Amino acid sequence: MFKLTATALACALSLGIAGLANANPISIKFSHVVAENTPKGQGALLFKKLAEERLPGKVEVQVYPNSSLFGDGKEMEALLLGDVQLIAPSLAKFEHYSKGIQVFDLPFLFDDIEAVDRFQKGEAGQKLLRSMEDKNITGLGYWHNGMKQLSANKKLVEPKDARGLKFRVQASAVLDEQFKALRANPRKMSFAEVYQGLQTGVVNGAENPYSNIYSQKMHEVQKYITESNHGLLDYMVITNTKFWNGLPDDVRTELETILDEVTVEVNRLASELNEADKQRIIDAGTTEIVTLTPEQRELWREAMKPVWKKFEGEIGADLIQAAEAANKGE
Ligand code: LMR
Repeated sequence: MFKLTATALACALSLGIAGLANANPISIKFSHVVAENTPKGQGALLFKKLAEERLPGKVEVQVYPNSSLFGDGKEMEALLLGDVQLIAPSLAKFEHYSKGIQVFDLPFLFDDIEAVDRFQKGEAGQKLLRSMEDKNITGLGYWHNGMKQLSANKKLVEPKDARGLKFRVQASAVLDEQFKALRANPRKMSFAEVYQGLQTGVVNGAENPYSNIYSQKMHEVQKYITESNHGLLDYMVITNTKFWNGLPDDVRTELETILDEVTVEVNRLASELNEADKQRIIDAGTTEIVTLTPEQRELWREAMKPVWKKFEGEIGADLIQAAEAANKGE
């Protein structure tokens, strides 16, 4: 009897161990829409490297850059369906899931990236990470790209210069209104289509950080970039809440630690990359970079600022105040 039980136990154990050895690693697909030599592209690759180094055999990460798996019209849906486990859409792409996140799109809200950092790390920013859990979306952190610049085939010095031009915008009502406030014509378009849109004249201009302009070669089809720093392009790294909560505790904890480390690195790298890409654009000689005097920049601020009032109700005055407090170092 004892012998039988022991044999059965040994058998079960060996089966169990064999089972473990053969267990498939957890597969994490990370899909994004930008090139690899950008802040987000580098962040995704570093996440893969650290996850596979520290969780060998337990986790495998596949990174799909440049909209090669899902473009920005589809990636959120794919996350909810479980076809992809990590994405990092720009903060302009959340309006159907969280109205509060629209705060990041308000033009001339943040004075600089340090203020953005304070807001994201503060109570309001952290709360926004968890504002979509009832929709099965968990925010794991914020990644910087940086401040957006206006580009066009016409020199934009004052807001009136933008009148009547067609600008590509991300799928964001705030950004749509921002260009309408200039009496320009916004056109929503996915990121993968922007280069062609500019090349064929479907749109005449756009707003992007230098890293996205350079890595998508937009400077080749834009004669001018106005260094307006008028708005922010940052990301929220998100996952499917059920998937994340269903991970073994040790794996989830390690992945969260890794993501925190990657966030620090991306946010350190982002301004460096944007500066380097600005220089590469200058060196390419295709595009004139227009710098604004403080007075000229003030005109853009005045022209765009009415957008705040339009969205205050949806976003919440408290969030706007928290962002303004972050400018003052609070
Ligand atoms: C855009 O669509 O312009 C950006 O969101 C692309 C990106 O992810 O940086």
